[in-house]
Amino acid sequence: MKIERGAYLVKGVSELYTPFERLESAAFVVEDGRFAWVGREDELPEQYSDVPPVQLGGRGVLPGFVDSHTHLVWDGSRVAEYVARSRGADYEELLEAGGGIHATVAATREASEERLLSLARRRARSFVRGGVTTLEVKSGYGLTTADELKQLRVARRLGEERSQRVTTTLLAHLPDPQMDRAQYVERFATETIPEAARSGLADAFDVFVDRGGFEVDEARRLYEAAMAEGLPIKGHVEQLTRTGGARLLAELGALSADHLERATESDLVALAEAGVVATVLPGAAALLAAGLPSARTFHSSGVKVAIASDHNPGSSPLYSLLPALQLATAVYGFSVLEVLIGATAHAADALGRPELGRVQAGAVADYLVVDGFEALLPLYAWGSPHLTEAVLGGTTVWRREV
Ligand code: NIG
Ligand code: FE
Repeated sequence: MKIERGAYLVKGVSELYTPFERLESAAFVVEDGRFAWVGREDELPEQYSDVPPVQLGGRGVLPGFVDSHTHLVWDGSRVAEYVARSRGADYEELLEAGGGIHATVAATREASEERLLSLARRRARSFVRGGVTTLEVKSGYGLTTADELKQLRVARRLGEERSQRVTTTLLAHLPDPQMDRAQYVERFATETIPEAARSGLADAFDVFVDRGGFEVDEARRLYEAAMAEGLPIKGHVEQLTRTGGARLLAELGALSADHLERATESDLVALAEAGVVATVLPGAAALLAAGLPSARTFHSSGVKVAIASDHNPGSSPLYSLLPALQLATAVYGFSVLEVLIGATAHAADALGRPELGRVQAGAVADYLVVDGFEALLPLYAWGSPHLTEAVLGGTTVWRREV
């Protein structure tokens, strides 16, 4: 199915989720990288009857998954920390003692751009096998302007390889322990943010608003600097402690508020009213044993929920989005359909990219072919992706021979 331009018709789709609607015996037309028509095969409009067909022979189709929160670019190892934590060592104590995120910062600063790219590429390939066609990639393991830009350049180069869509986010992760804190915030606001924005290397801006990261007032200063540069904002909020970061994101009109392990019902209502997507990260919630507000609370607040992997070497060493989706259902009580929407359309909205994560006329033609008749198999089958193909803008970027 290596058709770059022009049109093709996909037939023999047993079950398709748009993700908001379910269609049986479906078909769709792809034209110039977008869906031109999606519907029941027996309702194909006359105008498409001559379009060259591709026969799936009874397989399910889903929108390409969007992983809207990852820290994909890093070097070093945190395996020993993982083992120590499994025996009771505390994540925050390790961070305070100069380990944890600081260990990753040291190794990432040390690494060449080429090395970081090859490490990130290998991780990205593992994500595409699990259906992720769009990956958001954050910096945050550099702390200095030059090291943050290095991470963003690696993320951009990964996107230019065109095997996945990559969106980039500059992350103000922690104050650099080698600098005066207030000076660090000022330098980030007046140098790092403008350089990341003006070079075109950052699509968005994020702050870790928490104990060990930045205070709400510091975050406000940083967000205002980013907004002045035209960058959309998002945040790591209410993860380890409840700081009021979610309220700040609601007030400032962020794209998404991520983590939310310790968010209250009224925080979620504030996000819903402001149209901010709530992004839950079940890998980190489970591994740091922090839990999440109940799925019912998310539901009754009316907030849009996205679900992401938070891939990072410390709190969420997930090399696929699928375990996060399965934990969201099995442990945190989200329905399989809420999870599907959270991993596609709502995750695209969390990136400010509503043309992604949907199989509908006009949307970008990123989709997955399921290894089976039932389209929800990938969400059900733990430990196996149950996918045969990932398609990006109408072009196959990954295929498994079955
Ligand atoms: O999203 N807690 C802040 N940032 C990451 C963890 C980074 C790390 O442990 O290396 C997170 O959980
Ligand atoms: Fe994160």
